[in-house]
Amino acid sequence: MAMLHNVARLLQQARRVAVLTGAGVSQESGVPTFRGPGGLWRQHRPEDLATPEAFAKDPRLVWEWYDWRRGLIAEARPNPGHLALAALEDRFEDFTLITQNVDGLHRRAGSRQVVEIHGSIWEVRCLDCGDLREDRRAPIPILPTCSLCGGLLRPNVVWFGEALDPVRLEQVREALVRAQVMLLAGTSAVVQPAAAFGLWAQQAGAVLVEINPVPTPLSLRCDYVLKGPAGEILPALLAALPQPGGGL
Ligand code: OAD
Repeated sequence: MAMLHNVARLLQQARRVAVLTGAGVSQESGVPTFRGPGGLWRQHRPEDLATPEAFAKDPRLVWEWYDWRRGLIAEARPNPGHLALAALEDRFEDFTLITQNVDGLHRRAGSRQVVEIHGSIWEVRCLDCGDLREDRRAPIPILPTCSLCGGLLRPNVVWFGEALDPVRLEQVREALVRAQVMLLAGTSAVVQPAAAFGLWAQQAGAVLVEINPVPTPLSLRCDYVLKGPAGEILPALLAALPQPGGGL
């Protein structure tokens, strides 16, 4: 708990904050993480499904996996971790929430300055004509086709081996360089380039704080590690900050 109060004190003094979230932040909303218990789907690892090669070989299998995740996410609600991050945004002059999650739960919780580096599970893109649109059908017909040209649709998410959108990556870079404190919440810190974001921020001067019930490859590099679920730690951090307009 002493550690939590130290981090709260740091946040109290900071004006510019960046956060990187991963699947762990949505775990308490009932969305399984990729590498934890329940992460395997029909014995497939995400690295074997979320690739352009897997989709080219067996688009039906990949779509069945995404359809399963879309169904879970459609039922999910933001949890106290998402809500605490949305509330934290109002406490800082400069607050950027970078997320690897494609579930849209941060925005639903009220976060506004969100950079979704891996895209959105609710968008589809035509492989033939490139048409990009929102598609919230759950279940989605498998295989889904483009209403304009009949081409095969794919989820508009970033797969392994694909580059991040350069505009979003630049937004991330700028936020990391500005940040005085960076929180890493609910990410296993093994998928690049996101796994390196914390270290980039730290090199540029930010204090690095990890929030995770389990150690990650970055834990030893972090300045503080708050061990526990994001849905408990983030609300506790928020509660430890002075209330806005609350006087002394
Ligand atoms: P992972 O599934 O790799 O890691 C989830 C992390 O969340 C682990 O470190 C868990 O210990 C932690 N965790 C579990 N429950 C938690 C909780 N309640 N509160 C806080 N932390 C908790 O997910 P990511 O790091 O997001 O990419 O994975 C990165 C990328 O790999 C994903 O964006 C996705 C995936 O394949 C693509 O689809 C391209």
